[in-house]
Amino acid sequence: MKEVINGLSVFSEGSNTNRAIIFIHGFPYDHTMWNAQIEALKQKYFCVSYDIRGLGESAAGDGQFTMESFVDDVEEILIKKNLDKPVLCGLSMGGYISLRALERMQDKFSAAILCDTRSEADNNEGKLKRAAGIKRINTEGLAPFAKDFITNCFAEDFRQIKKDALEKIIAKSSSFNPVGVKGCLLAMLSRTDTTQSLSQIKIPTLLICGEKDALTPPSVMKEMFHKIPNAEFVEIKNAGHMTPIENPDEVNKAIINFLNKLD
Ligand code: MLT
Repeated sequence: MKEVINGLSVFSEGSNTNRAIIFIHGFPYDHTMWNAQIEALKQKYFCVSYDIRGLGESAAGDGQFTMESFVDDVEEILIKKNLDKPVLCGLSMGGYISLRALERMQDKFSAAILCDTRSEADNNEGKLKRAAGIKRINTEGLAPFAKDFITNCFAEDFRQIKKDALEKIIAKSSSFNPVGVKGCLLAMLSRTDTTQSLSQIKIPTLLICGEKDALTPPSVMKEMFHKIPNAEFVEIKNAGHMTPIENPDEVNKAIINFLNKLD
């Protein structure tokens, strides 16, 4: 089922009487990033995904986004979809949103799954890279930026073996509204550091990271894992930064094992 909530395209599968999971995708992707997980989980869980504001089918508006406004969007979805303590599952930028949501309103969730993400804010080098990305989109258009950014997210094996799939992902992201994509870059550039609050996450938390993740490598996620009291860490073989797409079977296995312990 698809509905529009305050300009956001929100999708749900499964019965709303089951435990809910809210999936938040990475940048610059859309909710379809979670297709393989939702397919595996929808019989037993109420799976809610959405396109982050500015990406996919969601409205870009004026592109003036902050991490805070992205968390406001999550809160709005929880209210409008009547989600009672769902599991929060976010990848990379979806992880930044999740980490700030946990800092702001942990009591609204029963568990968290953090994939290929980090708690640190951008350092100066990272901020300048975002600025260069915005400049590139302004001067060259979105497509070259999307191609380079997305290619870097995937491990070499996937790039070689799944060329067509990668091309499709790049083509889709290249068709997004550049205003929305730039708004997301600014929101990530200006996000706060959530490292100090990791020790305050009391709900069960699963951390997932691709062994070949070049953006948020296992070493970074292991540090997060050590700071979260009730956490598990699973490294995904044969995957880079986009674990749910690159090795869906292993990611599904990790998520199902984790969820089974909650039931
Ligand atoms: C993502 O996958 O969401 C991005 O790599 C996040 C980022 O650029 O920091």
